[in-house]
Amino acid sequence: MPLDPTPIPDELRGLRVAVLVSGGIAAYKIVDLASALTQAGCEVRVAMTPSAMRFVGPPTFAGVTGRPVLTGMWSADASPEPHVFLGDWAQLILVAPATANVIGRIASGRSDDIVTATLLAARSPVVVAPAMNDAMWAKAAVQENVTVLRKRGITIVEPESGHLASGHEGAGRLAGSAALLNAMVHAARSRYDLAGRRVVVTAGGTREPIDPVRFISNYSSGKMGFALAAAAADRGAKVTLVTTANHPQHHGIAVQRVDTAEEMQAELRSQLRGADLLLMAAAVGDFRPAHLADRKIRREETPSLSLELAPIPDLVASLASDPELDGVFRVGFAAEDSELDAKAVEKMKRKGLQGIVANDISRRDIGFGSEYNAGVLLFADGSRHELEKATKREMADKILDKVLPKLKK
Ligand SMILES: Cc1cc2nc3c(=O)[nH]c(=O)nc-3n(C[C@H](O)[C@H](O)[C@H](O)COP(=O)(O)O)c2cc1C
Repeated sequence: MPLDPTPIPDELRGLRVAVLVSGGIAAYKIVDLASALTQAGCEVRVAMTPSAMRFVGPPTFAGVTGRPVLTGMWSADASPEPHVFLGDWAQLILVAPATANVIGRIASGRSDDIVTATLLAARSPVVVAPAMNDAMWAKAAVQENVTVLRKRGITIVEPESGHLASGHEGAGRLAGSAALLNAMVHAARSRYDLAGRRVVVTAGGTREPIDPVRFISNYSSGKMGFALAAAAADRGAKVTLVTTANHPQHHGIAVQRVDTAEEMQAELRSQLRGADLLLMAAAVGDFRPAHLADRKIRREETPSLSLELAPIPDLVASLASDPELDGVFRVGFAAEDSELDAKAVEKMKRKGLQGIVANDISRRDIGFGSEYNAGVLLFADGSRHELEKATKREMADKILDKVLPKLKK
């Protein structure tokens, strides 16, 4: 494999790739690969077993990737929780070279070094590329461990036959970079079906100020919007979340905090240029105080108070009338307490949307503030999909499954 100029496939560009290196002679070949991936626009982070560091020094990988290498679990340089940091961060994991030893440790669920701990904490597809002496590779113990890994959904890149470092000829050489990259693309494609797409999501209830310390808002928690943003990001999309709500942030999401409907609209107008998809999960208010008090309204000075409210211009409908946003597939959300389908279809038409998710807010077990949701997804082309009760994250993935085929190629 060394130094062959295999081009990095476009599908890998921009992904966060963790490269886990174990202690085989072929470790030196992975330096080239880590370098090529970095140059092609991947974010590459490397972790090494103690044995791997006997073959290649961490500064070499740090040099070619531009990022510090994780060499153990007990240094908090990269994160206060190094054992789960990379697994959480990565969108794709390559273990190469994978020694007989590390394959055995992965198969038995160990987490006694940074490489195996990362794999136990992984959330992304994993590709394992074994490399070892031919006799080691042929052993039943190794083959059975490899079978275990395959059964668990890990992609194995079979080693090649040829000259081995031990002087023997046989199967055990690390596969070439083309085979490694091919396996990485396949593993990534199964998960990153939104790669190359720009998705804008809104979340939370808008807040309209009464005075400098008070606002009127609604019960929307923003959880559905955060779930949609996380699901789209996990599937490879470039995601911007325009939100009034605060929740723990997910890797790879650009968050824009806003309060009022007007701020949300301004932010959306700039974020939506060139976007593929808008998911309007925010609950935008219908009314706001007609007058904003410039200082705190005090009970002592105000024996009784009437709030005059003025309608908020329809944010979603105004986006529909902007010809520059024609290419953006727009999905709205409707919270209804009766006649779900009919009201949602009417809203979809009135607001110029291509799709709408209707939630039944009369149900106590789902919706506002809950971890669960259910509803129906309707498209302007007349298609209809029931969304059974599920966690908001599961529902987000189901919505994306149905929307994806409708996006412009
Ligand atoms: C010079 C040398 C080369 C080695 N090459 C390999 C190899 O290619 N594949 C392998 O499975 N083990 C190889 N080993 C053995 C591993 O380094 C050893 O099993 C180690 O415990 C692996 O630890 P790790 O899996 O945590 O990295 C080699 C050992 C030495 C001393």
